[in-house]
This record gives sequence, structure tokens and C-alpha cells, in this order.
Amino acid sequence: MEETTTVANRDPGEGPWAWGAELDPMLQVRRARGLLTGRRGERALREAVEGRTVLLTGASSGIGRETARRLGHAGAEILLVARRRDRLEELAEEVRGQGGTAHVLPCDLTSADAIAELVEQIRADHDGVDVLVNNAGHSIRRTLERSTDRLHDFERVMELNYFGAVRLTVPLVADMRARGGGHVVNVSTMGVQFGYEPRFAAYLASKAAVDAFTRSAAPETRRDHVRWTTVYMPLVRTDMITPTKAFHRAPAMSVERGASMVLDGIVRRPVRVTHPFGTMSQAAQLVIPRRMEAAMSRTVGRRRAPETAVAPPAA
Ligand SMILES: NC(=O)c1ccc[n+]([C@@H]2O[C@H](COP(=O)([O-])OP(=O)(O)OC[C@H]3O[C@@H](n4cnc5c(N)ncnc54)[C@H](OP(=O)(O)O)[C@@H]3O)[C@@H](O)[C@H]2O)c1
Repeated sequence: MEETTTVANRDPGEGPWAWGAELDPMLQVRRARGLLTGRRGERALREAVEGRTVLLTGASSGIGRETARRLGHAGAEILLVARRRDRLEELAEEVRGQGGTAHVLPCDLTSADAIAELVEQIRADHDGVDVLVNNAGHSIRRTLERSTDRLHDFERVMELNYFGAVRLTVPLVADMRARGGGHVVNVSTMGVQFGYEPRFAAYLASKAAVDAFTRSAAPETRRDHVRWTTVYMPLVRTDMITPTKAFHRAPAMSVERGASMVLDGIVRRPVRVTHPFGTMSQAAQLVIPRRMEAAMSRTVGRRRAPETAVAPPAA
């Protein structure tokens, strides 16, 4: 994370996420470089996005909403995608009020037909996009035991988190290649780096699938100047974690800091944006996998919090 990620007002509820971010040695190097060159924070973001078209999914709330606000402020032309039109309209008004450019493109990303229409609309009205941010997502927290008669949960999560992203990305990347380049930013979860997350099998599998897709797609499209970035997002205080009581008391990153990780990905275009705790847990996963598995298994026995409320299957 670089200066684009520096949050002026630190949220005390962030706990170790805030000081943990400072452990990244590359952050200090980038800060020093930024101080020397003067290319920091808002200026670096403006240089990266001004006049560029950025499509952001999941823009109606949480990390996506905050990312859109700051992209608009930095002079990007933003295409706002999510289902709730009223939320998107409100956000677009706010962006325009600050002198930015925003377009509202409501779409249910679980529908292949709706995505195909969205792509056609983008081609007709905007001549493709320079940056695609796949941020829309849905999480589910449920043990395998409680999932035996709810296998559709796995399909639902996959439909949005994996197929939704792929259905949008493949045609837009084809356009990027034809236009001479572009950038895809996927918002994943630190859970994929951590690897052992009881109750999150459906969610983590869908995010890991996007990772695997990206690792294969990136070398295919590299010569055509398409770059891919995965943001391994830690726990962030958004609507997504509200239903999980266990997270109410847990330290969570602020939405501003979460958005800063996405913006850092857009500015620097690295392969991955990660919190130092994510890198550490990825290393631990490689070195002591059984111990991690055993440690995490102990959390299943504890009745810490109810799981995601069981909704009736969709008709
Ligand atoms: N919060 C965390 O702790 C955390 C941790 C790791 C990773 N992440 C990832 O960060 C991303 C953003 O999540 P968030 O925390 O900001 O959650 P959020 O506030 O719940 O936002 C989710 C966004 O996804 C959109 N969305 C959901 N279903 C959709 C659908 N069928 N079609 C189109 N859009 C849809 C929602 O908009 P509509 O309801 O208007 O459609 C909303 O804008 C997600 O990919 C999530 O997996 C979050």
C-alpha cells in the first residue's frame, strides 16, 4: 500500500490492521520515493486515472462506493455498476457535484443476459473501458454440516463472485486488447492467502477461482498490454460483515483504507496488493499447513456466533 492508501483519520476500531500496514517494507520505500519525486497520494492517483474510463462493479456500497468517490474526485470517467439504481444515482450525483464524470449502469451480475446487455451498452456508449474493477461480491459463512441440503449456496456465490466477474471480464479484455491495453483489478480476500477459514468454503472457493482464472489469463494477454491485479482485502467494516456477529467486536479496516488498497492497485498496477498480515499467513500456509489446519479446527468447536442466516432457496 502506498500513499494512495494513507488514511488521514485513523479509525480506532481498525486495531492491528492499521499498525500492521506499516510493517510493509515496500510501503516505506514507496513513501520515501514519493517524498523525493513529489508523486504521492492524490497526485499519483490523478495521473493514473484522469480522463480514463473506469468500470467499477459493486459501486453502490462499501469499498466500491468509497473507491468510486475518490476515482471521481481524481478525474476518472466512472461507470458505476450494481443492482440498486437509486444508490448509484445518488453516488453519481455526488461525483458530478465534485466536478467528476459518472454514469449509472444498473446490472444484476448473476444474470448472463444482463451482463451481455451491459457489455453491448458499454461498447455503444463508451468505446470500452481502460480499467475494470471486479469488486461486486457476496459472502456466505456456513459449515459443511449445515450445507448438506443447501448446495445451491455454493452455486449462488460462484454465480456472482466467479461467473459474474468472468462474464464481464472476458469480452471487456478482448476490447482492451484491440484498443492496445488495459487493466483488470479483482477484489479478492485475504482469506485466500490465509487458506484455512472454516465456514467459508463456498466464498473462498469462488474467490480462489477468480485468482486461478487471472493467473492463466495474465500471461495470455501480457503482450497486448493488459495488466491484472488482485487485491487481497482484509476484514473491512462494510454491510458485508454486518450479518456475522463474530465480526462486530473484531477489529476491521475502515472502508477508506479498503478503498485505498483498490486505488493502490489501480495506480501501481502490481500483480497483487496485500496487507502484510496476508503475506505472513501465506508464508505460514506453505510452511506449517497442518498446524494451521489444527489451530483453525479449534475455532469450529467454539460456539462464537451464528452462521449466515438461512434464507429459503430462490424460486
Ligand atoms: N468487507 C470485507 O470484510 C471484505 C473482505 C474481503 C473481501 N471483500 C470483498 O470486497 C468486495 C466489496 O465488498 P464490500 O465489503 O464493500 O461489501 P458490500 O458493501 O456488501 O458491497 C457489495 C457490493 O456488491 C454489489 N452486488 C451484490 N450482488 C450483486 C449482483 N448480483 N449484481 C451486481 N452487484 C451486486 C452490491 O450492490 P447491490 O446490492 O446494489 O447490487 C454492493 O455494491 C467484495 O468482492 C468482497 O468479497 C470484502
